[in-house]
Amino acid sequence: MDLRDVDQFAKEIIFEAGKRIRDAFSYDIKVETKADANDLVTNIDRETEIFFIDKIKEFNPSHKILGEEGMGEGIDSFEGSVWVIDPIDGTMNFVKQHRHFMITIGFFVDGVGKLGYIFDVMREDLFCAIGGEGAWYNDSPLRKLKPVRLEEAVIGINASWVAPNRRVNHEKMIDLIRTVRGTRSYGSAAMEIAFVVSGKLDAYISMRLSPWDIGGGTIIAREVGAIATNLKGEPCNLFTQDTFIIANPSIHHEILTNYIEEK
Ligand code: IPD
Ligand code: CA
Ligand code: CA
Repeated sequence: MDLRDVDQFAKEIIFEAGKRIRDAFSYDIKVETKADANDLVTNIDRETEIFFIDKIKEFNPSHKILGEEGMGEGIDSFEGSVWVIDPIDGTMNFVKQHRHFMITIGFFVDGVGKLGYIFDVMREDLFCAIGGEGAWYNDSPLRKLKPVRLEEAVIGINASWVAPNRRVNHEKMIDLIRTVRGTRSYGSAAMEIAFVVSGKLDAYISMRLSPWDIGGGTIIAREVGAIATNLKGEPCNLFTQDTFIIANPSIHHEILTNYIEEK
């Protein structure tokens, strides 16, 4: 298999899916809830995932697909060629703001990340990587991240973790947000990962992400030297939900050691 052909194909279907999603604003978007009232899904999330599955199966029927909406057969292992797809990351932004939502895709061969994509659908901005060959923001190469001091860092974090909660010591989180230069919260994990790999944020922390939220982003991260782990500092797991941090390498260890205390 020539990875460049797969990369070319992936970009074509991502751009086409993006156009279909933008066109969807001119007709009916049906919103439903999933696990809880704040966990949204729409007919467009599902239709986009089906679009990817159909295209990939046409491209190579032996490829397997793990999609958030479970519209395909799913996977039982990461053996062979596997696509990990979040058709719309930031569905709440899609529904409410009509912007700030991403298509994100990771392509793995025998469990090793080979191609990663995060596509800002409304801006038509693509962050992507070919494992071992580099990462790009549209046509410009993304450079290795330069060291940053925590006091100068801008980090992505959801406000929930700074209030009392059952997952982390929020007092330590308060220390963290008082230490850094600034915080941001965009409502799309993939967007925040894209911002870290391109130096627009210096870290992003989340208490619960799924393989499709991070699959594409972790492949891009490796190419620019960003470190992505769970909050115990262990490698990201592609099978289950887990905590997550992606950070500039100069502050990853410091954040985990001094500011994260899981309950
Ligand atoms: C969600 C977004 C959100 C993050 C959630 C994800 P979805 O993905 O990335 O920013 O905080 O944990 O589930 O449901 O919009 O694809
Ligand atoms: Ca998601
Ligand atoms: Ca999604």
